[in-house]
Amino acid sequence: MAEDRERWGSRSSFIFAAVGAAIGLGNVWRFPYITYQNGGGAFLIPYFIALITAGIPLMILEYAVGLKTQGAPPVALKKIWKKAEWIGWFAILIVFVLATYYATIMSWAVNYFYHSFTLAWGRTGPEINNFFNNILLGKSGSPGILGGIQWPVLAGLAITWILIYLALFKGVKTLGKIVYFTVGIPWLILIIMVIRGLTLPGAIDGLNFYLTPDFSVLLNPRVWLAAYGQIFFTLSLAMGTLIVYASYLPKDSDITANAFITSLANCGTSFFAGFAVFSTLGYLAQSMGVTVPEVTTSGLGLAFVTYPTAINLLPVASQLFGALFFLLLLTLGIDSAFSQVEPVVGSIADKWGFNKKWVLPSVCIFGFIVGIPFTTRGGFYWVDIVDHFIATYGLTLVGFLECIVIGYVFGASEIRGYINSVSDVRIGPWWDVFIKFITPIVLGVSFVMQLIKLIQRGYGAYPIWTAFTGIGLLIVLLILSFVFSKRKGGNP
Ligand code: ALA
Repeated sequence: MAEDRERWGSRSSFIFAAVGAAIGLGNVWRFPYITYQNGGGAFLIPYFIALITAGIPLMILEYAVGLKTQGAPPVALKKIWKKAEWIGWFAILIVFVLATYYATIMSWAVNYFYHSFTLAWGRTGPEINNFFNNILLGKSGSPGILGGIQWPVLAGLAITWILIYLALFKGVKTLGKIVYFTVGIPWLILIIMVIRGLTLPGAIDGLNFYLTPDFSVLLNPRVWLAAYGQIFFTLSLAMGTLIVYASYLPKDSDITANAFITSLANCGTSFFAGFAVFSTLGYLAQSMGVTVPEVTTSGLGLAFVTYPTAINLLPVASQLFGALFFLLLLTLGIDSAFSQVEPVVGSIADKWGFNKKWVLPSVCIFGFIVGIPFTTRGGFYWVDIVDHFIATYGLTLVGFLECIVIGYVFGASEIRGYINSVSDVRIGPWWDVFIKFITPIVLGVSFVMQLIKLIQRGYGAYPIWTAFTGIGLLIVLLILSFVFSKRKGGNP
């Protein structure tokens, strides 16, 4: 099987694909609002610590598992330990659900890109809010009321899935070429946005908020939990993506240098994007005569409410900057979106030996159908709720289980020996300490603390039953993982 396995065209294709998977809406949409919600500069310290204690060690682990076993997550984890196949399926089911709402956020960006040419979102703050909440999303007011489908959102969702299909259907060699553009173009646009942002009046206030640490916030566990969740999301950890991408590498490829390049390039991009976002927020604050923390409370909608507001307030070329910004979101997001679909397709193909030519369109059509509820008038709330459960609880749980299986069953030092035998940069016993102790303890503690808080208070301002629906979703995915792992495969 290994001989017939698809391969990247070159090492740089792999790095570009891995960086492309990591860099996405997580950097430009999720990182800014999570940073904003968690105190600005204060957030950067736990974020950096999460990168060192969980991000980099787990990325090395996932690359090693993919490269060593040359299989997609379920097969790969089964080769590591016979009883661990279900963990691979759990990661696959988690990433599948993640892909369905990620595509919905892409669909919002498709709509904004379309409307940016006419600045159809309106001129004033209230108009822009109204556009996002009432015209585009037609928010129903409660997750309990789905209301009807918002047809433009559904159309954007269809466009996104077609783009994902087109990007993947020629196999990983083409994918390696596409990502040169999906990583390259966003960086160019980002540089333009940062220069534009930094030259706006008031930018300095935004940068002060972004860069001045507030150590008192570090005592708040919520900030730490948010940082770990964001690191998992942004590095595409525990999604099966890195395992499957590394499995397309020749068996003697470097692991550690690739992991350092991918994680630092990703977090560097988030940090850089922060300059564009917060300088623009500073400008916005000055224009509105308020302080930076008072500008917005729109959470998940930050990119879609604040940005158009800021874009309108620009003295010149608003349409151009609006179109550039939403093009940036789309090009950044598309390679992350297809990196979430490839592990699903690869896992089904690896286990049952089906032809990817048929698995890919089936997964895309099914993903589109599963995503339809997110396009309803109650869809916004469900994107928020499902993101919370999948990204925070689901990913952390998979990461925790991976550490246990590799650290204790397979043996951290054994796999480190393998990593060092193929890598240019050797890693020391510190890695074993992270995988066996620090990472699982931090993840386990965060998971339990979050769960207790959740059961007591629910999630956000939503009714408590939504939290139990989220927990129910995770339990269903766990049961399905066991069912899939018990099915007989068509491939050894
Ligand atoms: N890592 C991907 C992102 O940040 C999922 O968007």
